Amino acid sequence: MSINPELKVAIIGFGEMGKRHSLEYHHATRGKINFTAVVEPEDARYEEGCAWYGKRPTRYKRIKDMLSKEKLAAIIIASPNCFHYENLKDCMTGNLPLMLEKPLDSTFEKICEIARLTNSYKAPIMVDHVMRYAPIIQKAKQLITSGAIGKVCSFNFVQYHGGGALFTTYRRTMAGGGGQLIEKGTHDLDVAFYLCGAAPRKVTGICRLQKFGGNKSEKLTCSTCDDFKCANRVALRKSSNAAVKDIDLNHDLCAFSKTVDVYDNEICLVECTNNIFGSYAHCFFVQNHFSRRYEIIGTNGILYIELSMREKIPNCDGRISLSRAIPGLPEREEYKFDYEGKIHYNGGPFAGLHFYNMIQGKAKPFTTVEDAFAAEMVGVGAMKSSEEHRHIDLEKDIIPEDLLKVFRKAYRENV
Ligand SMILES: NC(=O)c1ccc[n+]([C@@H]2O[C@H](COP(=O)([O-])OP(=O)(O)OC[C@H]3O[C@@H](n4cnc5c(N)ncnc54)[C@H](O)[C@@H]3O)[C@@H](O)[C@H]2O)c1
Repeated sequence: MSINPELKVAIIGFGEMGKRHSLEYHHATRGKINFTAVVEPEDARYEEGCAWYGKRPTRYKRIKDMLSKEKLAAIIIASPNCFHYENLKDCMTGNLPLMLEKPLDSTFEKICEIARLTNSYKAPIMVDHVMRYAPIIQKAKQLITSGAIGKVCSFNFVQYHGGGALFTTYRRTMAGGGGQLIEKGTHDLDVAFYLCGAAPRKVTGICRLQKFGGNKSEKLTCSTCDDFKCANRVALRKSSNAAVKDIDLNHDLCAFSKTVDVYDNEICLVECTNNIFGSYAHCFFVQNHFSRRYEIIGTNGILYIELSMREKIPNCDGRISLSRAIPGLPEREEYKFDYEGKIHYNGGPFAGLHFYNMIQGKAKPFTTVEDAFAAEMVGVGAMKSSEEHRHIDLEKDIIPEDLLKVFRKAYRENV
Protein backbone atom coordinates (compact mmCIF):
# COMPACT_ATOMS: atom_id res chain seq x y z
CA MET A 1 0.00 0.00 0.00
CA SER A 2 1.22 3.53 -0.76
CA ILE A 3 2.40 5.64 2.17
CA ASN A 4 -0.37 8.13 1.55
CA PRO A 5 -3.11 6.17 -0.20
CA GLU A 6 -6.16 7.73 -1.75
CA LEU A 7 -9.18 6.68 0.30
CA LYS A 8 -12.79 6.52 -0.80
CA VAL A 9 -15.06 7.84 1.91
CA ALA A 10 -18.84 8.31 2.11
CA ILE A 11 -20.92 10.94 3.87
CA ILE A 12 -24.36 10.23 5.34
CA GLY A 13 -26.21 13.56 5.38
CA PHE A 14 -24.81 15.88 2.72
CA GLY A 15 -26.07 19.06 4.39
CA GLU A 16 -24.16 21.99 5.90
CA MET A 17 -21.66 19.93 7.86
CA GLY A 18 -21.47 17.08 5.35
CA LYS A 19 -20.62 19.35 2.45
CA ARG A 20 -18.17 21.32 4.58
CA HIS A 21 -16.37 18.13 5.62
CA SER A 22 -16.13 17.05 1.99
CA LEU A 23 -14.20 20.10 0.84
CA GLU A 24 -12.24 20.68 4.03
CA TYR A 25 -11.01 17.10 4.43
CA HIS A 26 -10.27 16.81 0.72
CA HIS A 27 -8.10 19.93 0.94
CA ALA A 28 -6.52 19.05 4.29
CA THR A 29 -5.35 15.68 2.92
CA ARG A 30 -4.36 17.15 -0.47
CA GLY A 31 -7.03 15.11 -2.19
CA LYS A 32 -6.19 11.83 -0.44
CA ILE A 33 -9.65 11.63 1.09
CA ASN A 34 -11.99 11.41 -1.84
CA PHE A 35 -15.72 11.53 -1.16
CA THR A 36 -17.17 9.16 -3.72
CA ALA A 37 -20.64 8.45 -2.26
CA VAL A 38 -23.28 10.16 -0.17
CA VAL A 39 -26.61 9.26 1.38
CA GLU A 40 -28.84 12.30 1.10
CA PRO A 41 -32.64 12.21 1.06
CA GLU A 42 -33.23 15.73 -0.31
CA ASP A 43 -32.56 16.59 -3.96
CA ALA A 44 -31.81 20.25 -3.25
CA ARG A 45 -29.33 19.48 -0.48
CA TYR A 46 -27.54 16.99 -2.71
CA GLU A 47 -27.22 19.60 -5.47
CA GLU A 48 -26.02 22.25 -2.99
CA GLY A 49 -23.47 19.81 -1.61
CA CYS A 50 -22.13 18.96 -5.08
CA ALA A 51 -21.84 22.65 -5.95
CA TRP A 52 -19.89 23.24 -2.74
CA TYR A 53 -17.61 20.22 -3.14
CA GLY A 54 -17.10 20.75 -6.86
CA LYS A 55 -17.71 17.03 -7.57
CA ARG A 56 -20.70 14.74 -7.78
CA PRO A 57 -20.35 11.78 -5.39
CA THR A 58 -22.73 8.92 -6.25
CA ARG A 59 -25.97 9.54 -4.42
CA TYR A 60 -27.91 6.90 -2.51
CA LYS A 61 -31.15 7.12 -0.60
CA ARG A 62 -30.38 4.15 1.65
CA ILE A 63 -27.21 3.27 3.55
CA LYS A 64 -27.64 -0.44 2.86
CA ASP A 65 -27.68 0.14 -0.92
CA MET A 66 -24.54 2.23 -0.69
CA LEU A 67 -22.70 -0.37 1.38
CA SER A 68 -23.60 -3.14 -1.04
CA LYS A 69 -22.41 -1.22 -4.11
CA GLU A 70 -19.42 0.88 -2.98
CA LYS A 71 -15.93 -0.13 -1.90
CA LEU A 72 -15.34 2.33 0.90
CA ALA A 73 -12.53 2.98 3.38
CA ALA A 74 -14.63 4.93 5.90
CA ILE A 75 -17.89 6.76 6.57
CA ILE A 76 -18.86 10.12 8.08
CA ILE A 77 -22.30 10.42 9.69
CA ALA A 78 -23.45 14.04 9.43
CA SER A 79 -27.23 13.75 9.41
CA PRO A 80 -29.37 15.72 11.92
CA ASN A 81 -28.75 14.65 15.52
CA CYS A 82 -31.98 12.64 15.80
CA PHE A 83 -30.97 10.23 12.98
CA HIS A 84 -27.50 9.25 14.21
CA TYR A 85 -28.60 6.06 15.98
CA GLU A 86 -30.74 4.94 13.06
CA ASN A 87 -27.85 5.64 10.66
CA LEU A 88 -25.28 3.92 12.84
CA LYS A 89 -27.41 0.77 13.05
CA ASP A 90 -27.41 0.60 9.25
CA CYS A 91 -23.62 1.03 9.17
CA MET A 92 -22.92 -1.83 11.56
CA THR A 93 -22.48 -4.51 8.89
CA GLY A 94 -19.80 -2.47 7.09
CA ASN A 95 -17.49 -2.28 10.12
CA LEU A 96 -15.72 0.67 8.52
CA PRO A 97 -13.86 3.39 10.44
CA LEU A 98 -16.34 6.11 11.29
CA MET A 99 -16.53 9.74 12.08
CA LEU A 100 -19.72 10.46 13.93
CA GLU A 101 -20.96 14.01 14.21
CA LYS A 102 -21.68 15.25 17.69
CA PRO A 103 -23.89 14.85 19.62
CA LEU A 104 -24.25 11.06 19.65
CA ASP A 105 -28.01 11.52 19.18
CA SER A 106 -30.81 13.71 20.50
CA THR A 107 -32.45 11.71 23.30
CA PHE A 108 -31.06 10.07 26.41
CA GLU A 109 -32.31 6.67 25.28
CA LYS A 110 -30.73 6.90 21.81
CA ILE A 111 -27.46 8.33 23.17
CA CYS A 112 -27.28 5.28 25.46
CA GLU A 113 -28.08 2.96 22.54
CA ILE A 114 -25.21 4.47 20.56
CA ALA A 115 -22.86 3.93 23.48
CA ARG A 116 -23.95 0.27 23.58
CA LEU A 117 -23.73 -0.26 19.84
CA THR A 118 -20.28 1.28 19.47
CA ASN A 119 -18.98 -0.97 22.23
CA SER A 120 -19.30 -3.92 19.85
CA TYR A 121 -18.16 -2.05 16.74
CA LYS A 122 -15.08 -3.60 15.14
CA ALA A 123 -13.50 -0.46 13.65
CA PRO A 124 -12.38 2.84 15.22
CA ILE A 125 -14.91 5.63 15.73
CA MET A 126 -14.10 9.28 16.36
CA VAL A 127 -16.67 11.90 17.35
CA ASP A 128 -16.33 15.29 15.71
CA HIS A 129 -15.49 17.32 18.79
CA VAL A 130 -13.64 19.52 16.37
CA MET A 131 -12.74 22.28 18.81
CA ARG A 132 -10.23 20.02 20.53
CA TYR A 133 -8.17 19.93 17.32
CA ALA A 134 -8.03 23.73 17.05
CA PRO A 135 -4.51 25.15 17.47
CA ILE A 136 -5.71 27.53 20.21
CA ILE A 137 -7.05 24.63 22.31
CA GLN A 138 -3.97 22.50 21.62
CA LYS A 139 -1.76 25.39 22.81
CA ALA A 140 -3.85 25.77 25.97
CA LYS A 141 -3.50 22.04 26.67
CA GLN A 142 0.24 22.22 26.16
CA LEU A 143 0.52 25.17 28.57
CA ILE A 144 -1.54 23.40 31.24
CA THR A 145 0.37 20.13 30.84
CA SER A 146 3.67 21.94 31.16
CA GLY A 147 2.55 23.30 34.54
CA ALA A 148 2.10 26.91 33.40
CA ILE A 149 -0.69 27.57 35.93
CA GLY A 150 0.19 24.93 38.54
CA LYS A 151 -2.40 22.35 39.54
CA VAL A 152 -5.74 22.96 37.82
CA CYS A 153 -8.50 23.72 40.35
CA SER A 154 -11.53 25.10 38.53
CA PHE A 155 -12.96 26.44 35.27
CA ASN A 156 -15.48 28.99 34.13
CA PHE A 157 -16.67 28.69 30.53
CA VAL A 158 -19.26 30.90 28.84
CA GLN A 159 -20.67 31.50 25.38
CA TYR A 160 -23.16 34.19 24.42
CA HIS A 161 -24.51 34.97 20.99
CA GLY A 162 -27.60 35.41 18.86
CA GLY A 163 -28.27 31.71 18.34
CA GLY A 164 -27.87 31.47 14.54
CA ALA A 165 -29.13 28.10 13.33
CA LEU A 166 -29.83 26.85 16.88
CA PHE A 167 -33.46 28.03 16.82
CA THR A 168 -34.17 28.00 13.08
CA THR A 169 -33.41 24.33 12.29
CA TYR A 170 -34.14 20.88 13.75
CA ARG A 171 -32.13 22.09 16.74
CA ARG A 172 -35.14 24.06 18.01
CA THR A 173 -36.76 20.91 19.45
CA MET A 174 -35.65 18.35 22.03
CA ALA A 175 -36.61 15.53 19.68
CA GLY A 176 -34.56 17.00 16.82
CA GLY A 177 -31.48 18.37 18.56
CA GLY A 178 -31.55 17.19 22.19
CA GLY A 179 -31.37 20.64 23.80
CA GLN A 180 -28.57 23.16 23.50
CA LEU A 181 -26.46 21.74 26.34
CA ILE A 182 -26.20 18.55 24.29
CA GLU A 183 -26.26 20.08 20.82
CA LYS A 184 -23.92 23.02 21.43
CA GLY A 185 -22.62 22.97 25.01
CA THR A 186 -21.21 19.49 24.56
CA HIS A 187 -18.29 21.04 22.64
CA ASP A 188 -17.48 23.38 25.52
CA LEU A 189 -17.94 20.75 28.21
CA ASP A 190 -15.72 18.38 26.23
CA VAL A 191 -13.01 21.03 25.96
CA ALA A 192 -13.33 21.84 29.68
CA PHE A 193 -12.80 18.21 30.75
CA TYR A 194 -10.03 17.69 28.21
CA LEU A 195 -8.11 20.83 29.17
CA CYS A 196 -8.58 20.51 32.92
CA GLY A 197 -7.73 16.83 33.11
CA ALA A 198 -11.04 16.04 34.76
CA ALA A 199 -14.00 13.70 34.26
CA PRO A 200 -17.52 14.82 35.27
CA ARG A 201 -19.31 13.20 38.20
CA LYS A 202 -22.07 15.50 39.57
CA VAL A 203 -24.02 18.42 38.15
CA THR A 204 -26.49 21.14 39.08
CA GLY A 205 -28.27 23.08 36.35
CA ILE A 206 -30.67 25.95 35.76
CA CYS A 207 -32.24 25.81 32.30
CA ARG A 208 -34.77 28.34 31.02
CA LEU A 209 -36.55 29.23 27.79
CA GLN A 210 -36.74 33.02 28.10
CA LYS A 211 -36.92 34.50 24.64
CA PHE A 212 -37.69 31.99 21.90
CA GLY A 213 -40.76 29.78 21.51
CA GLY A 214 -44.27 31.22 21.35
CA ASN A 215 -47.45 30.62 19.43
CA LYS A 216 -46.40 30.81 15.77
CA SER A 217 -47.17 27.86 13.56
CA GLU A 218 -44.81 24.92 13.34
CA LYS A 219 -44.42 25.37 9.58
CA LEU A 220 -43.75 29.13 9.52
CA THR A 221 -40.43 30.19 7.98
CA CYS A 222 -38.82 33.62 7.72
CA SER A 223 -39.36 33.63 3.97
CA THR A 224 -43.12 33.03 4.36
CA CYS A 225 -43.55 35.39 7.33
CA ASP A 226 -44.94 38.91 7.00
CA ASP A 227 -43.41 40.23 10.23
CA PHE A 228 -40.64 42.25 8.63
CA LYS A 229 -39.78 43.92 11.95
CA CYS A 230 -38.81 40.62 13.59
CA ALA A 231 -35.25 41.08 14.87
CA ASN A 232 -34.65 37.37 14.53
CA ARG A 233 -35.53 37.27 10.84
CA VAL A 234 -32.96 35.15 9.01
CA ALA A 235 -31.57 36.83 5.91
CA LEU A 236 -31.28 33.97 3.44
CA ARG A 237 -27.75 33.16 2.35
CA LYS A 238 -26.35 35.52 4.94
CA SER A 239 -23.15 34.40 6.59
CA SER A 240 -23.30 34.15 10.39
CA ASN A 241 -20.08 36.05 10.67
CA ALA A 242 -18.54 38.30 8.06
CA ALA A 243 -15.04 37.07 8.95
CA VAL A 244 -15.92 33.48 8.11
CA LYS A 245 -16.01 32.47 4.47
CA ASP A 246 -17.70 29.14 4.54
CA ILE A 247 -21.05 29.16 6.27
CA ASP A 248 -24.46 29.40 4.74
CA LEU A 249 -27.43 29.77 7.04
CA ASN A 250 -30.21 28.97 4.63
CA HIS A 251 -32.56 27.39 7.16
CA ASP A 252 -35.21 29.74 8.37
CA LEU A 253 -37.75 27.94 10.56
CA CYS A 254 -39.47 30.33 12.99
CA ALA A 255 -37.72 30.63 16.37
CA PHE A 256 -41.03 31.79 17.91
CA SER A 257 -42.96 28.69 16.91
CA LYS A 258 -45.00 26.69 19.43
CA THR A 259 -42.85 23.71 18.58
CA VAL A 260 -39.73 25.24 20.17
CA ASP A 261 -39.11 23.38 23.42
CA VAL A 262 -35.35 23.70 24.02
CA TYR A 263 -33.91 26.13 26.53
CA ASP A 264 -32.15 29.30 25.35
CA ASN A 265 -30.43 30.39 28.58
CA GLU A 266 -28.69 27.77 30.74
CA ILE A 267 -26.01 27.34 33.34
CA CYS A 268 -24.50 24.33 35.02
CA LEU A 269 -22.08 23.66 37.85
CA VAL A 270 -20.05 20.49 37.50
CA GLU A 271 -18.08 18.53 40.09
CA CYS A 272 -15.31 16.45 38.55
CA THR A 273 -12.63 13.97 39.44
CA ASN A 274 -9.28 15.24 40.78
CA ASN A 275 -11.09 17.73 43.04
CA ILE A 276 -11.78 19.98 40.05
CA PHE A 277 -15.05 21.85 39.59
CA GLY A 278 -16.38 24.38 37.15
CA SER A 279 -19.26 26.20 35.54
CA TYR A 280 -20.51 26.46 31.99
CA ALA A 281 -23.15 28.97 30.87
CA HIS A 282 -24.64 29.87 27.52
CA CYS A 283 -27.31 32.23 26.27
CA PHE A 284 -28.44 32.30 22.64
CA PHE A 285 -30.44 35.51 22.39
CA VAL A 286 -27.61 37.99 22.86
CA GLN A 287 -27.75 39.98 19.63
CA ASN A 288 -24.85 41.69 17.86
CA HIS A 289 -22.39 40.05 20.19
CA PHE A 290 -20.36 36.86 20.15
CA SER A 291 -18.33 35.73 23.10
CA ARG A 292 -16.95 32.33 23.83
CA ARG A 293 -14.39 32.58 26.59
CA TYR A 294 -12.86 30.09 28.92
CA GLU A 295 -11.08 30.75 32.22
CA ILE A 296 -9.05 27.99 33.84
CA ILE A 297 -7.69 28.58 37.30
CA GLY A 298 -4.67 26.78 38.71
CA THR A 299 -2.82 27.05 42.00
CA ASN A 300 -0.23 29.34 40.38
CA GLY A 301 -2.06 31.18 37.63
CA ILE A 302 -4.94 31.55 35.23
CA LEU A 303 -5.44 30.90 31.52
CA TYR A 304 -7.88 33.24 29.84
CA ILE A 305 -8.90 31.89 26.44
CA GLU A 306 -10.84 34.20 24.14
CA LEU A 307 -12.07 32.11 21.24
CA SER A 308 -13.54 35.22 19.68
CA MET A 309 -12.30 38.79 20.06
CA ARG A 310 -14.41 41.84 20.92
CA GLU A 311 -11.91 44.20 19.31
CA LYS A 312 -10.46 43.86 15.81
CA ILE A 313 -6.76 42.97 15.90
CA PRO A 314 -4.96 42.15 12.63
CA ASN A 315 -4.29 38.40 12.23
CA CYS A 316 -5.74 37.72 15.66
CA ASP A 317 -9.08 35.90 15.80
CA GLY A 318 -8.45 34.32 19.19
CA ARG A 319 -6.07 34.80 22.10
CA ILE A 320 -4.74 33.05 25.16
CA SER A 321 -3.58 35.25 28.04
CA LEU A 322 -1.61 33.58 30.76
CA SER A 323 -1.19 35.34 34.11
CA ARG A 324 0.70 33.74 36.96
CA ALA A 325 3.03 34.11 39.88
CA ILE A 326 5.85 31.59 39.54
CA PRO A 327 9.32 32.82 40.57
CA GLY A 328 11.68 33.05 37.59
CA LEU A 329 8.89 32.98 34.97
CA PRO A 330 7.23 35.96 33.23
CA GLU A 331 4.05 37.13 34.98
CA ARG A 332 2.18 37.46 31.68
CA GLU A 333 2.30 35.76 28.32
CA GLU A 334 0.03 36.15 25.34
CA TYR A 335 -0.56 33.91 22.31
CA LYS A 336 -2.54 35.01 19.26
CA PHE A 337 -4.31 32.79 16.73
CA ASP A 338 -5.41 33.44 13.18
CA TYR A 339 -8.22 31.07 12.12
CA GLU A 340 -7.49 31.67 8.43
CA GLY A 341 -11.15 32.37 7.68
CA LYS A 342 -12.22 28.92 8.86
CA ILE A 343 -15.03 28.04 11.23
CA HIS A 344 -14.47 25.96 14.36
CA TYR A 345 -11.38 27.99 15.20
CA ASN A 346 -9.54 26.28 12.36
CA GLY A 347 -9.88 22.86 13.98
CA GLY A 348 -11.47 21.17 10.93
CA PRO A 349 -8.35 20.49 8.83
CA PHE A 350 -6.60 18.90 11.84
CA ALA A 351 -9.65 16.73 12.56
CA GLY A 352 -9.63 15.72 8.88
CA LEU A 353 -5.97 14.73 9.02
CA HIS A 354 -6.54 12.76 12.19
CA PHE A 355 -9.46 10.96 10.54
CA TYR A 356 -7.25 10.12 7.54
CA ASN A 357 -4.58 8.65 9.84
CA MET A 358 -7.17 6.82 11.93
CA ILE A 359 -8.67 5.14 8.86
CA GLN A 360 -5.23 3.74 8.04
CA GLY A 361 -4.65 2.55 11.60
CA LYS A 362 -1.91 5.13 12.16
CA ALA A 363 -3.82 7.00 14.88
CA LYS A 364 -6.32 6.04 17.57
CA PRO A 365 -9.56 7.96 18.08
CA PHE A 366 -8.67 11.08 20.07
CA THR A 367 -12.21 12.39 20.58
CA THR A 368 -13.88 9.17 21.67
CA VAL A 369 -17.47 7.96 21.99
CA GLU A 370 -16.86 7.53 25.74
CA ASP A 371 -15.85 11.19 26.09
CA ALA A 372 -18.86 12.34 24.06
CA PHE A 373 -21.15 10.11 26.13
CA ALA A 374 -19.89 11.60 29.41
CA ALA A 375 -20.06 15.20 28.16
CA GLU A 376 -23.62 14.64 26.93
CA MET A 377 -24.62 13.05 30.25
CA VAL A 378 -23.68 16.35 31.90
CA GLY A 379 -26.26 18.06 29.64
CA VAL A 380 -28.87 15.40 30.46
CA GLY A 381 -28.02 15.76 34.17
CA ALA A 382 -28.20 19.56 34.13
CA MET A 383 -31.67 19.52 32.58
CA LYS A 384 -32.85 16.90 35.09
CA SER A 385 -31.37 18.97 37.93
CA SER A 386 -33.20 22.07 36.71
CA GLU A 387 -36.51 20.23 36.40
CA GLU A 388 -36.22 18.45 39.76
CA HIS A 389 -34.46 21.25 41.69
CA ARG A 390 -31.70 19.02 42.97
CA HIS A 391 -28.04 18.15 42.58
CA ILE A 392 -27.55 15.16 40.24
CA ASP A 393 -25.04 12.41 40.83
CA LEU A 394 -24.48 11.20 37.25
CA GLU A 395 -23.51 7.65 38.20
CA LYS A 396 -26.31 7.14 40.73
CA ASP A 397 -29.12 9.12 39.11
CA ILE A 398 -28.64 8.83 35.35
CA ILE A 399 -26.17 6.38 33.87
CA PRO A 400 -27.67 2.92 33.29
CA GLU A 401 -25.83 0.15 35.14
CA ASP A 402 -24.54 -1.46 31.93
CA LEU A 403 -22.98 1.84 30.76
CA LEU A 404 -21.11 2.73 33.95
CA LYS A 405 -17.98 1.18 32.46
CA VAL A 406 -18.26 3.34 29.35
CA PHE A 407 -18.87 6.45 31.47
CA ARG A 408 -15.84 5.73 33.66
CA LYS A 409 -13.62 5.31 30.60
CA ALA A 410 -14.29 8.90 29.54
CA TYR A 411 -11.41 11.36 29.81
CA ARG A 412 -9.52 8.33 31.08
CA GLU A 413 -6.10 9.91 30.98
CA ASN A 414 -7.55 12.40 33.45
CA VAL A 415 -9.14 10.08 35.98
N1 LIG B 1 -18.78 19.31 14.94
C1 LIG B 1 -19.34 20.51 14.78
O1 LIG B 1 -18.79 21.52 15.18
C2 LIG B 1 -20.68 20.60 14.10
C3 LIG B 1 -21.11 21.79 13.53
C4 LIG B 1 -22.33 21.81 12.88
C5 LIG B 1 -23.12 20.67 12.85
N2 LIG B 1 -22.68 19.55 13.44
C6 LIG B 1 -23.47 18.31 13.43
O2 LIG B 1 -23.56 17.82 12.11
C7 LIG B 1 -24.82 17.19 11.93
C8 LIG B 1 -25.51 17.81 10.73
O3 LIG B 1 -25.73 19.18 10.98
P1 LIG B 1 -25.97 20.19 9.78
O4 LIG B 1 -25.86 21.54 10.33
O5 LIG B 1 -25.11 19.79 8.65
O6 LIG B 1 -27.51 19.87 9.43
P2 LIG B 1 -28.18 20.01 8.00
O7 LIG B 1 -29.64 19.94 8.22
O8 LIG B 1 -27.63 21.16 7.27
O9 LIG B 1 -27.69 18.69 7.22
C9 LIG B 1 -28.17 17.41 7.51
C10 LIG B 1 -28.39 16.67 6.19
O10 LIG B 1 -28.80 15.33 6.48
C11 LIG B 1 -29.89 15.00 5.61
N3 LIG B 1 -30.74 13.97 6.27
C12 LIG B 1 -31.93 14.13 6.87
N4 LIG B 1 -32.36 12.94 7.33
C13 LIG B 1 -31.42 12.03 7.02
C14 LIG B 1 -31.31 10.63 7.24
N5 LIG B 1 -32.25 9.93 7.90
N6 LIG B 1 -30.20 10.02 6.79
C15 LIG B 1 -29.24 10.71 6.14
N7 LIG B 1 -29.31 12.03 5.90
C16 LIG B 1 -30.39 12.68 6.34
C17 LIG B 1 -30.63 16.30 5.40
O11 LIG B 1 -31.40 16.27 4.21
C18 LIG B 1 -29.49 17.30 5.33
O12 LIG B 1 -29.01 17.48 4.03
C19 LIG B 1 -25.58 17.35 13.24
O13 LIG B 1 -25.44 16.21 14.02
C20 LIG B 1 -24.89 18.53 13.90
O14 LIG B 1 -24.98 18.52 15.31
C21 LIG B 1 -21.47 19.48 14.05
